[in-house]
Amino acid sequence: MSDNNTEEVKLDDLVKDDSIYPRKNISRKTVESYATALRAGAKFPSITYQQVRENEEIKAVIIDGLHRKLAWDKLSEEEKDEASKIKLEPWKKGILDKEESLEELRIASVKFNLQHGDRLKETDLEMQCARIVEDRSPREIRGIKKELAEQFEVTKSRISQMKEVTKKYNQKVASRDSKIYKLSCLGCTQKEISEKVDINQPNVSKNIRKFSAKLSNILEIGEDEGKSISELSDDHGIDEPILWHKKLEGKPDIERGELFFDPDEDEYPFELYNLWRFSKCDERLGTKWPGNVPGQIAVNLLYYYTEQGNLVVDPMAGGGSTVDACLVMGRKCRAYDINPPDNQVSIQKHDITKGFPTEADDADFIFLDPPYWKQKEEAYDEESNNLASLPLDEFYDACGEIFRSAFSTLKKGGHIGMIIGPTQESMKIKDHVHVLYNLLKEEFDFTNRIIVPYSTQQAQAYDVADAEKKQYMLKVYRDLLVFEKGG
Ligand SMILES: C[S@@+](CC[C@H](N)C(=O)[O-])C[C@H]1O[C@@H](n2cnc3c(N)ncnc32)[C@H](O)[C@@H]1O
Repeated sequence: MSDNNTEEVKLDDLVKDDSIYPRKNISRKTVESYATALRAGAKFPSITYQQVRENEEIKAVIIDGLHRKLAWDKLSEEEKDEASKIKLEPWKKGILDKEESLEELRIASVKFNLQHGDRLKETDLEMQCARIVEDRSPREIRGIKKELAEQFEVTKSRISQMKEVTKKYNQKVASRDSKIYKLSCLGCTQKEISEKVDINQPNVSKNIRKFSAKLSNILEIGEDEGKSISELSDDHGIDEPILWHKKLEGKPDIERGELFFDPDEDEYPFELYNLWRFSKCDERLGTKWPGNVPGQIAVNLLYYYTEQGNLVVDPMAGGGSTVDACLVMGRKCRAYDINPPDNQVSIQKHDITKGFPTEADDADFIFLDPPYWKQKEEAYDEESNNLASLPLDEFYDACGEIFRSAFSTLKKGGHIGMIIGPTQESMKIKDHVHVLYNLLKEEFDFTNRIIVPYSTQQAQAYDVADAEKKQYMLKVYRDLLVFEKGG
């Protein structure tokens, strides 16, 4: 998009933008020789620039002529007065939005730099082609080699031989295919998958079969080479829970639980008592997220209250620990959040105060991990319906409404689990569990109460110092309430 409100651009205003300009290295020799020529009165061809807007700032970026501009910068003020001025030419009139026009700016910059005497190096051309490929989706990448070859007037085989381009392309395809596979493992329909990921619906099942075979192959070769799942995940850029899902296909829950088993501490892979202490979040489950809970909580809930193939729903999924626990434990999962993380295709944007989406119907288990009212308010976006931003009575009303709508979504005999901790501000504690217990009891039958303490290492140094000074205790417990939808 262009905007014609330009101001006059001067040579001194021009900047090199590394995300656009293709040359990585500057030839000092060329700059020196151009500066000498300028002092001797030589005339140089014009420099091509473009005015762009980036984060509200307007700048004039060099498209072609960086060495000429750097040579000009070498001159003293008197020399500049004497030398014949280098003309400036805009590539396009007006101001372009940098983000929207990035690809065409990169292409234009390469084209100019391929034309003149000091031709663009092969490595710079390759890097620029790889960047262009990286910004496209796999479907858009198809045919890109031909397109780039035409744009840069080089042969298609020259582009095809560029290792960086092939690598970027393969990474893009692998990342898309693993998303498709993940969504299918979690129970999404082919139609939903084609809507969420860049693929035509008729190609979905073929793609899943191919990726599944690829995973088997990776696991088989990995086993022969004695590689761990974490090493295979790094080598192939595939998330660990996806590899575990494949590796554990057909295995009973007990074997799946062994993944989280610490032979020094445990005798049994799951929690045997109703006090669940997890010293930290298992990094394989979910991403870092404000208020994320250890994925081991979901793993244990799934073991006790669901079976393989059951549908689990997490309407406030945050960093996705439940989704990954479902992959590892072989359960289907529908996950939502009012403000989902950017990179999580399996978590759909949805405000749960508006009710559960219909595709969550007949859930076997619903896991609720709401914000503990204002405990982390500053960490979440200021969405008006974010439970962390509501006044306390509205927070409880919203929870009551969520329980009622969860009742309709849950299968008869299904369970709902809710984890909640008190909100503590200095020595004042608001313990929500009593209110929420009563609200849950209005709809469901009580099944269990599990205490899930925070690790004391999670306490902030500031809070510890304040508690010691003012003589009060810090809360470490969280309650995990489990209820059943009876008949
Ligand atoms: C405690 S975090 C969940 C953490 C998650 N269990 C994990 O382990 O990563 C609570 C989540 O609830 C979400 N949330 C708050 N209000 C919501 C609403 N009205 N609808 C859906 N999600 C909401 C927040 O965006 C936040 O991600």
